[in-house]
Amino acid sequence: MKLLQIYTHFKKDMDYIEKQLEAAVRTDHAMLNQSSLHLLKAGGKRLRPVFVLMAGRFGNYDIERLKLVAVALELIHMATLVHDDVIDDAETRRGQLTVKSKWDNRIAMYTGDYILGKALNVITELDDPRIHTILSKAMVEMCIGEMEQIRYFYRHEQSVRDYLLRIRRKTALLVAISCQLGAIAAGAPESVCRTLYSFGYNVGMTFQIRDDVLDLTSTEDAIGKPPGSDLRQGNVTLPVIYALRDQQLRPDIIRVLDQIAEGGERAYAEVPGLIEKIRRSSGIKEAEHLSQKYIDKAIAALDDLPDHKSKEYMREIALFVGNRSY
Ligand code: IPE
Ligand code: IPE
Ligand code: MG
Ligand code: MG
Repeated sequence: MKLLQIYTHFKKDMDYIEKQLEAAVRTDHAMLNQSSLHLLKAGGKRLRPVFVLMAGRFGNYDIERLKLVAVALELIHMATLVHDDVIDDAETRRGQLTVKSKWDNRIAMYTGDYILGKALNVITELDDPRIHTILSKAMVEMCIGEMEQIRYFYRHEQSVRDYLLRIRRKTALLVAISCQLGAIAAGAPESVCRTLYSFGYNVGMTFQIRDDVLDLTSTEDAIGKPPGSDLRQGNVTLPVIYALRDQQLRPDIIRVLDQIAEGGERAYAEVPGLIEKIRRSSGIKEAEHLSQKYIDKAIAALDDLPDHKSKEYMREIALFVGNRSY
C-alpha cells in the first residue's frame, strides 16, 4: 500500500489538520508569516499527525482534541527542521529552499522559535498534565540527541549502540509520543498507550535508519534534499559505521573523515567517490537488515492492541517507513 492510500482513510481529518496548521502559524507579522508558511506549504509527509490520528482510533476519537496534538507535534517537527537546516547548512528541504537559504540564519532561528512557540500555544489547550510532561521531556531529549550527534561528528571510533542512542533521541521519541499522545488525548487505556508508544518508537528508529541510508543511495529529486549531506558534515551514520568494519574501506573512510574535520574543501571533492564505495560495501545491506528488525518489532507490538481497522493501517505505514524512497 502506498502512503497516499493509507492517508485516504484519514483524508477528511488530515485536510482539517492542514487548515489548522496554517491557521496556527498565520500572523500579522509579514516576515514570520512568510517564512513559516514557506516550509508548511512546501509539503512534507505529515507522518506525525497521521500517527496521532491512527492512535486516537484506539480511544474516543474526537478530532477537536486530537487536532491539538497533531498540529502541535507537526509544528515541533517543523521547528526542529528549520533549526536543523541552520546547523546542517542545508540548501533545500521538501524540494524547496530552506528558510536559512531563502532568507538567512537569523531569520531561520527566529522562525524555528516562533513555530515552536505556536506549537506550545496549541497544546496548552489540552488540560491533561501528562501530555505536557511527556511532550516537554521529549523535546529535551531531541535536543540532547542533536547535541550528541555533534559530539560524535568525524569519529570513526563509535559503536552501533552510540548511533542507536542518538537516533532514539533525535527522531524516534517524537514518533513514539505521536502515537502515545494521540492515544492519551483520546482517553485510551494505559496499556494501549504504552503499546502504541512502543510501536511508534520502533517505527521511528526504522525511519531514521532509512533516512540515513537514503542520504547515501538516493537523489535530490527523490528526497527533496541533497544526498551525501551526512558525510559532508562529518555525521557518521549506521551504514558508515558498518562500512568501517570493512578493512579495505576503513582507511579511506577515516582519511576523508579526518579531512572533513580539518575543514578542508579538499575533503568534499572526495565525498562522492567515498559514497560510491560505501554503496558497494555491505554497510547499506547491514543497515537495512537492522532497520528490518525494527519494522518487525513495530509490527509485533500491534499484536498487543485490541482489534481495530487502524491496526492494518499502522502495519502498512510501518512497512512504508521501512522501505520508503522519499
Ligand atoms: C525529516 O523528517 C527529519 C528526520 C527525522 C529524518 P521527515 O522525513 O518526516 O520530514 P517531512 O516532514 O516529510 O519533510
Ligand atoms: C533531522 O535530522 C532533524 C531532527 C531529527 C531533529 P537530520 O539532519 O538527520 O535530517 P535531515 O536529513 O536534515 O532531514
Ligand atoms: Mg539535517
Ligand atoms: Mg541534522
